[in-house]
This record gives sequence, C-alpha cells and structure tokens, in this order.
Amino acid sequence: MFLINRLVFTDSESASAELAAHVAALIDRKAQAGRQAVLGLATGSSPLAFYRELVRLHREDGLSFANVVTFNLDEYLGLAADHPQSYRLFMTEHLFAHVDARPENLHVPDGTVARDDLPAYCARYEELIREAGGLDFQLLGIGRTGHIGFNEPGSGKDSRTRLVHLDERTREDAAPAFGGIAEVPSHAITMGCGTILEAREIALIAWGVKKAEVVRQAICGPVTPELPASLLQHHPQTTFYLDEGAASALAVAETP
Ligand code: F6R
Repeated sequence: MFLINRLVFTDSESASAELAAHVAALIDRKAQAGRQAVLGLATGSSPLAFYRELVRLHREDGLSFANVVTFNLDEYLGLAADHPQSYRLFMTEHLFAHVDARPENLHVPDGTVARDDLPAYCARYEELIREAGGLDFQLLGIGRTGHIGFNEPGSGKDSRTRLVHLDERTREDAAPAFGGIAEVPSHAITMGCGTILEAREIALIAWGVKKAEVVRQAICGPVTPELPASLLQHHPQTTFYLDEGAASALAVAETP
C-alpha cells in the first residue's frame, strides 16, 4: 500500500494551472526524447480549468500536441459523438479542437457500439492503450459514489474496460445537464480500475466541500471496491490536487 500524495491549493484555478504545467512538461520531455506522450483524460466539471490552461499553453507558449495520444476514461452508452452531453463532444469543445493533436490519436469510447459488439470493442480499447505503450499519465475526477471513470461501487481492482450500469446517485448528479433524470443514460462504457491502475502516474482533481468526505474516504479510509477511488492506495504514484474545500475533511481527519 502507498500513501496517496496530496497537494492543496487556495483555489481550483491555481491547482489546475500547476497540473497543466506538470503535464506540459511531460509532453515536452517525451517530445525531446522522440516519444509519444500517452494521456488518459477525464470529462466533467472538474477538469475545465485544466483544459483551458493546456489550450493557453498551446496558443501562447508553443506547447505542441503533435506527439500526444489520448484515451478518455468513459462515454455514455447510446450517445453519438455529436450529442450535446457526449464526452466526445466535450473533449472536442474543450481541448481537441484547439490544439495540434492528430485526430487519429484522440480516443474516446464510442457510445454507439452495438451491445453484442461491446466485449470485443472494449478489449480492442485496452489493446490500443497497450499498443501505444501504456498510459504515461491518467487524469481522474471523483464522483459522489467514490467512482473513478464510471467504476461505481463494486468495481474491483482488476476490472477492465467494459459496459457498466450507472449508480442512481451518478445519474441524479448528471440530471440537470440532461434536462431531467429520465434523459440520463442508464449505462456507460468505462475503462476499468485495473486499466487506470496500470497508468504510470495518476492525478485526481477535486474541488469544493461537497467532495471533501469522499476525498477523505479515498485517502484515509479502507481500501475497498465499495469506494473505487480508495483502490488508488494500491498505486505507487498518485497525487490528489485539491482546493481547500475538498481538502477540508482531511485536515480534520489527520489533526483532529
Ligand atoms: C468523467 C468521469 C467521472 C467524473 C466524476 C466527477 O470522465 O470519469 O468519474 O470525473 O463524475 O465529475 P465532476 O468533475 O463533474 O464533479
């Protein structure tokens, strides 16, 4: 077991800028060595400032994505790439359309794959990650259920890319964006916890007091599939980037 590193910032903007600089340095280092940088990416509200900063570094500081290969964590089942809530569209709008990455290097699970074809499709997604040399870096958010990617409670440390049923709390959290819970898909495709844990480095970002309790459980609680983020305690190189709100329960837990 490993201690999860944590960095606490006064606000999410400064935390996101620090993490973007860290990832930019990784991309540069790889480019100088003539190698690809393989990034696992997340969507949701937490990474918005991180992507904004990467785009700024590309525009103003000459950061190139020509050597970058990306794999997104997840996608809602049934949503086409142009659906307003699809994660593919999110990535296009917030990052892909604004940088010089090659389109064929940008992977997001395809939500329109037929159910019967999903096992083979998911196995191929894993194979593509392996063929790229494995994930150098994986970005994560954390859900109210302790999910990472869409690995809901019950997801084991060896789980792989697969079809999953979304927890009702996760669907409730997504309901405003979809205009009602009835519109939120019941299933998704997600990289597994095992896939995530194979990344050489992991950064989890969490902002605001509403994430404080689940962050505390992930770092200080028992390692259990009932809180998939706690499985990160098995990973040797994981850092949580937190603002003061998200770190607030940790301070109490560690210095009562
Ligand atoms: C998104 C993902 C999810 C989110 C999590 C937090 O690709 O895999 O695990 O990271 O639900 O979402 P936000 O950032 O919206 O609070």
